[in-house]
Amino acid sequence: MNKIDVVLGLQWGDEGKGKVVDCLTPGYEVVARFQGGPNAGHSISIEGKSHVLHTVPSGIFREGVLNIIGNGVVVDPVILFDEISKIELLEGPVTDRIIISKRAHLILPTHRALDAASEAAKGKAKIGSTLKGIGPAYMDKTGRNGLRFGDVLLPEFKQKYEALKNKHLQLLSHYKDFSFDISSYEEQWFKAVEELKRFKFVDTEFLVNKKLDEGTPMLAEGAQGSLLDVEFGSYPFVTSSNTLAAGVCSGLGVAPSKVGKVYGIFKAYCTRVGSGPFPTELFDETGEELRRIGHEYGATTGRPRRCGWLDMVALKYAVMMSGVTDLIMMKSDVMDDFDTVKVATSYKINGKYTDEYPYDGGTNVEPVYTEFKGWKTDITGIRKYEDLPAEMKDYVAFIEKETGCPVRIVSVGPDRNAIIFKD
Ligand code: GDP
Ligand code: IMO
Ligand code: MG
Repeated sequence: MNKIDVVLGLQWGDEGKGKVVDCLTPGYEVVARFQGGPNAGHSISIEGKSHVLHTVPSGIFREGVLNIIGNGVVVDPVILFDEISKIELLEGPVTDRIIISKRAHLILPTHRALDAASEAAKGKAKIGSTLKGIGPAYMDKTGRNGLRFGDVLLPEFKQKYEALKNKHLQLLSHYKDFSFDISSYEEQWFKAVEELKRFKFVDTEFLVNKKLDEGTPMLAEGAQGSLLDVEFGSYPFVTSSNTLAAGVCSGLGVAPSKVGKVYGIFKAYCTRVGSGPFPTELFDETGEELRRIGHEYGATTGRPRRCGWLDMVALKYAVMMSGVTDLIMMKSDVMDDFDTVKVATSYKINGKYTDEYPYDGGTNVEPVYTEFKGWKTDITGIRKYEDLPAEMKDYVAFIEKETGCPVRIVSVGPDRNAIIFKD
């Protein structure tokens, strides 16, 4: 029997999960997404060209790897089909390399409209959703109204669709100042559903467990990040799924005892896109520099990402909540020219110091920083850990000491080859 390894984002998403999954995939035969949907934008840079995946697992650019869209994922057929069409232009047919869970829920055109209406109604208090219909689709799932991929094959699919759509139209009629037109998207949606029927819709929980029993090496790919988890993130400024390691069990049908390594990915600094608390956010030139050098613009929405220093309080919390076994540090090259690098090691809240991440995500906290000397070296061409500058190794050692978890991989550029395996 094998256990399933997991790749998770430890911050607010966009840590570089796509790149890491692509880099680790040569060691696996199956890559599976277990939560989230097209709110994700996972970039993989191959020979200078960036490919962005939203629903398809990031194992797709490695030959012979099976990619599973698990039951915990919510799928917009239009986005999935568009993504597959682009991949097939490069890779040829991938019909046998993608399998979709019959239990994966569908994002309807009206879910997108509801997402937009809800955000517009919230005004300044908006979540900053990607507007892909994620929240409304998960609401229908937990509200036991949703449509699933397996339903697509039923003769009464169209009636089920109409019934749910009509429910949504009623809800939408309560938003007085909101107008929408789903007609052209709806047409594309049904076309995409038809096109996707060439893929296998499967009870993936049986497939996943059978493969694990046979000893197949498998990797689960997280989307979003730990601090966007619906239970433990900076609620209500979160997404609607379980982004922690626990999500692998419910999102793929794997027992906790079958979870193996948990790779936790973090940027050497922090970013956040959308609203919500961000204790170490920088509003100065340094924040601008991080955004400019790190090209910190959303892969799904193109929005500028908010930038700030590494937050050890939040990182330790994320490591604890998912039982991370191996850390992976991304984008350290972005700070190559910095004279100093800072890390928040505790929060001051109402005059008291704490290193526990608060339930409100740190709305009124003052971060307490430890300062490090910058490495002032171009690390992008380095491929051996021992060749990294001493100041950067000190930074890594500090993170390992604080989290109690080894940093196994350091990424030094966007390309799939710009990576250092430490041991
Ligand atoms: P994901 O959602 O976690 O897969 O991350 P995104 O793809 O949204 O954002 C990560 C961005 O950083 C992408 O543009 C990657 O190409 C880029 N990237 C990944 N690793 C590195 C790195 O080590 N250095 C630099 N400079 N860029 C990186
Ligand atoms: P990847 O997988 C960064 C954020 C949105 C918003 C909040 C809720 O690429 O790391 P939603 O559309 O889920 O209702 O938005 O979560 N968000 C992400 N931020 N990376 C992501 O995915 C995200 N997916 C959602 O910006 O603040
Ligand atoms: Mg992303």
